[in-house]
Amino acid sequence: MLQATSIPQHIAIIMDGNGRWAKSRGLPRAQGHRAGAESVREAIDACKELGVSYLTLYAFSSENWNRPQAEVSALMILLEKFLSSKAADLMRQNVRLQVIGQIDRLPESTRETLQKVIAQTASNDSLTLVLALSYGSREEITAATRKIAQGLLDGCWKMEDITPELLASQLDTAAIPDPDLLIRTSGEMRVSNFLLWQISYAEMVIVDKFWPDFRQGDLFAAVAEYQKRHRRFGSV
Ligand code: IPE
Ligand code: IPE
Ligand code: MG
Repeated sequence: MLQATSIPQHIAIIMDGNGRWAKSRGLPRAQGHRAGAESVREAIDACKELGVSYLTLYAFSSENWNRPQAEVSALMILLEKFLSSKAADLMRQNVRLQVIGQIDRLPESTRETLQKVIAQTASNDSLTLVLALSYGSREEITAATRKIAQGLLDGCWKMEDITPELLASQLDTAAIPDPDLLIRTSGEMRVSNFLLWQISYAEMVIVDKFWPDFRQGDLFAAVAEYQKRHRRFGSV
């Protein structure tokens, strides 16, 4: 049983293990990514049911560009198909789509599909689904630092204006509260360049299943685990 009073406002998920899921079945890696799309649907439905306000999904990292070209292309095509087929559901479910990451690096058709669905869902206001695409936290913090340095050079800011709040306001996540709960599937205990700044006080739950096997019940179980934690934020 989950307590309705302490549902995380923001859940972030590192969706990992698609390749190993496929390999364990003797399938090509792309089949694992395809199967993972179903788990994305389940995660969205579970967040809707719980009344979570933000769900951020790590779908493609800055480092994932280093994968074989064929896998990168398959992922981009899959993403476009997912967005096109999911747009009507997002509208029906009152879900707003947003994106973080270096989207100018995405192929033009992927970017266009993405921007179309973002515009279409812009005034939906139940759940905000944030896709991290071509996202890397170090790149994000570096870009924010550049903007602040430019602001200093231009005289918009003084040295004493540089605070954690100013830096946070220059990140891609400026308008998004920090995650309360960070889930990673496939049992790996690392953050792989994901939201390094924003997860300072997130509770982490590692799920020992490959992402394509992740179901609504697994998300509910992660929230139940979250509700057992005692968040202290450095206090007593
Ligand atoms: C996660 O699964 C999806 C992406 C990173 C795009 P992986 O593709 O990393 O699968 P594993 O970790 O190799 O099994
Ligand atoms: C993290 O998974 C990136 C995404 C889930 C999109 P990776 O599979 O790329 O991370 P590593 O290589 O295990 O650190
Ligand atoms: Mg992986």
